[in-house]
Amino acid sequence: MKVTNAEIVISAVSQKQYPDDRLPEIALAGRSNVGKSSFINKLISRKSLARTSSKPGKTQTINFYRINESFYFVDVPGYGYAKVSKTEREKWGKMMEEYFINRENLEAVLLITDIRHAPTNDDIMMYDFLKHYELPVIVVATKLDKIPKGKRAQYLKRTINTLQIEKGDVVLPFSSETGEGKEEAWRILSKYIG
Ligand code: GTP
Ligand code: MG
Repeated sequence: MKVTNAEIVISAVSQKQYPDDRLPEIALAGRSNVGKSSFINKLISRKSLARTSSKPGKTQTINFYRINESFYFVDVPGYGYAKVSKTEREKWGKMMEEYFINRENLEAVLLITDIRHAPTNDDIMMYDFLKHYELPVIVVATKLDKIPKGKRAQYLKRTINTLQIEKGDVVLPFSSETGEGKEEAWRILSKYIG
């Protein structure tokens, strides 16, 4: 897809702030620092529209990026960062449920995992949560550039097995560094935003 227009519309903390133009939305989910915001930037070929950081916890709000006036990427705060207080974790949970459970124009969720590491219990919970609410899930195993070519199949298999990926669900190897998987990502997404 050729991206000619990409803009942040709102950084929301609650439902009443969400955009109301009913365009289809593709949300990101995944651990803190896994590369959710970087994924968005790579797909839309912008260096830093979505803010990224080498430190976990960069994205704190639900950020709606309108692409080509036709759909949204929705960037959300990551989970699983140890240095977060119980109160903050609860706030995060409420914010996420409010979005993922009730959003009618949410068409699919990109669950981003780090291909170098086995998915965590939080990742498994997130996958199961999304399946429970019958949201289409595309697992993106990112940071592929960090794994030598000869070992990629083995690491990918571990991701699939640990998450117990259901038949028909896609796991896409990807790198925001090299752009590997980008064309395939757009091909998969086209059926949700068309
Ligand atoms: P939070 O907003 O804190 O939840 O993090 P995030 O998931 O949005 O991660 P972000 O995109 O900010 O990236 C975190 C770090 O990982 C940054 O230093 C990125 O440069 C790096 N990173 C992201 N994707 C890749 C990738 O595919 N390859 C490599 N080598 N580094 C990556
Ligand atoms: Mg982020």
